[in-house]
Amino acid sequence: MMNYEQAKALTAGYGQEHLLKGYENLREAEKEALLAQLANCDFSVLEALQNREESGKRGVISPLITMQLAEIERRREEFAGIGTKAIKEGKVGAVLLAGGMGTRLGSDDPKGMYNIGITKDVYIFERIIRNLLDVVEQTGTWIHLFIMTSDKNHEATTSFLKEKDYFGYKSEYVTFFMQEMAPATDYEGKIYMEAPGVVAMSPNGNGGWFTSMIRHGALNKAKEAGIEYLNVFAVDNVLQRIADPVFVGATMQCGAAVGSKVVKKVSPDEKVGVMCLEDGRPSIIEYYELTDELMNTLDEKGERVYNYGVILNYLFRVPDLEKIADEKLPVHVVEKKIPYMNEQGELVKPEQPNGYKFENLVLDMIHMEESCLAFEVVRNREFAPIKNKTGVDSVDSARELLKQNGIAL
Ligand code: UTP
Repeated sequence: MMNYEQAKALTAGYGQEHLLKGYENLREAEKEALLAQLANCDFSVLEALQNREESGKRGVISPLITMQLAEIERRREEFAGIGTKAIKEGKVGAVLLAGGMGTRLGSDDPKGMYNIGITKDVYIFERIIRNLLDVVEQTGTWIHLFIMTSDKNHEATTSFLKEKDYFGYKSEYVTFFMQEMAPATDYEGKIYMEAPGVVAMSPNGNGGWFTSMIRHGALNKAKEAGIEYLNVFAVDNVLQRIADPVFVGATMQCGAAVGSKVVKKVSPDEKVGVMCLEDGRPSIIEYYELTDELMNTLDEKGERVYNYGVILNYLFRVPDLEKIADEKLPVHVVEKKIPYMNEQGELVKPEQPNGYKFENLVLDMIHMEESCLAFEVVRNREFAPIKNKTGVDSVDSARELLKQNGIAL
């Protein structure tokens, strides 16, 4: 347990003395809680503010050939056979990343609880579970579903899913685990307070999922169940195909350390991360890093080579994940809306971004792996992300895509 003097030295070391302002006015229990929070707070993420330019440096980018739809169609049966066998043998698990705050959507509930129905209730979690149930039915095998939550939404998520009886999923195949948190700062790098004696913390990004699985015993559970592959996916793509036997089979057949579902970009400058090689290893280059030269690089058939965007659906091999588990992921500094306590001691929920959060991202794990299969999927069938209320990647656009796919709302 850290005492006040130690907390003072620790915070001072990072220029965060203000976190202890008013400490003497707190009740005993609040004092203890604050000291415990400071002891557990990973202040080292703040270093990312100093190294912003440094961390943005890229290696040599070259194309990574995507396995395209035509080839997948041709080999569908072969891949489906291999993938189905692995699923039936219990080798494939699914990991739902649902620890995010979904601030762009602007609901206080976890994103998965969002109701996208029109004439009836259709929750995001429900859509996702139904998609996974398709494979359960097809293969006659229950697939372990691991759900990552955070301190901010664990209670709401677990009680909602329980209340809904896991939308028909067998509860013994559902395991929750919590991710870690990181402090959030203003634009000067000063950590916000959320309430008297409470530091503003937020989920530390989706990149820590594997270490959190280890820490909370979920990996052991997966290994005991015989799981060798983990299909990681985001909560917000309601057309997501999970543990897709064809994708699983293709990744296995290629012998790649990881498989990544990708979609053809709608335009060369679409704002999605693109699969590539960086210094000969698989990597994802962000849209804002894609120079005109790269954007317009063509292959021998005259097609753009940096033309396939990632949709946050990856199939990792467990032994390869264990090899990289101790490697440190880069910390990304992202501008977000951060609720904070003002000088008057009132909680403010800003309408616009007001500072930085610090996140590890799952896409950085791809670069740590030896090889990656980029696997094309039909965009209108498998990609309907919900990031915003309206406009691009929104509830509206996802509803339209669900309708196109015959899903009643
Ligand atoms: P996003 O970065 O789109 O989601 O995460 P967000 O942070 O929830 O949303 P905004 O930016 O505030 O609107 C993509 C996926 O990663 C998960 C999300 O739940 C989503 O499935 N995620 C994100 C986590 O599990 N933990 C995090 O800390 C962040």
